[in-house]
Amino acid sequence: ILWLIAIGVIAYLIGSVSSAIIVGRIFGGEDIRTKGSGNAGATNALRTYGKKAAAIVTVCDCLKAVAAILIAMLISNMTGIDSVYGNTPVYVAGVCAVLGHNFPIYFGFHGGKGILVSMVAMLFANWWIGLIVLVFALIVMAVSKYVSLGSILGSVLLVILSLIFGGGDIAYILFCVILAVLAVFMHRANIKRLINGTENKLGSKKG
Ligand code: G3P
Repeated sequence: ILWLIAIGVIAYLIGSVSSAIIVGRIFGGEDIRTKGSGNAGATNALRTYGKKAAAIVTVCDCLKAVAAILIAMLISNMTGIDSVYGNTPVYVAGVCAVLGHNFPIYFGFHGGKGILVSMVAMLFANWWIGLIVLVFALIVMAVSKYVSLGSILGSVLLVILSLIFGGGDIAYILFCVILAVLAVFMHRANIKRLINGTENKLGSKKG
C-alpha cells in the first residue's frame, strides 16, 4: 500500500505542473486564470492565446499524464505490486494526476478541469472504451461547439460503458466514476452557463 501511496503522490506532483499557466505567462505575461473562463486548460488557452498556445498546452498536459502513468507502471512492475493490485496503480496515478491538474500544489490549488489528463488515463485503463468515449466527446464538441458539453457527456458515457463492458471490475468502474464525478464537479460553472445559454462557444472570443 505504501507503494500505491508513493505512486499517487508522484502523479499528483506531476499533474500539478499546469502547462496552461506556464504557457499563459510566456504568451501573455499574465495569469491565464484571470482571462476568458478563468480556467487553466487548453480550451481557455485557445480562447485567450490562440491555436499555437492551445496546441502546446494540449501536448504538455497529455504528456504529463503519460509520464505519471508510465512511472506508476514502472514502479508497480519493479516492486511486483502489479501482481497484487493488477491495474490499480494505473487508476491511482490517473486520478491523482487529475487531482494535481485541478488543484495544483505549485499554483495555489487553482488549476484546470482535468479533461485531457482524464482522457489519457482512461485510454491507458481500457483503450477501446477510452477511444469510444474520446470519439463521442469530440463529435459532441464539433457539433455543439461546446467543449464543456463534450467533456460532461463524455464523462457520463464513460461511466455507462464501464458498467456495461467493464466486466464487473470494481476498481475500473470506481476509477471511471471518480473521473466522471470530478469532471462534472469541475464543470459546475459551465453547466450553469449551458443552462442559461451563456456558455462560450468554440471560435468565440468571450469567456
Ligand atoms: O476542458 C475544459 C473544458 O471542458 C471547458 O473549458 O475554459 O470553457 O471552461 P472552459
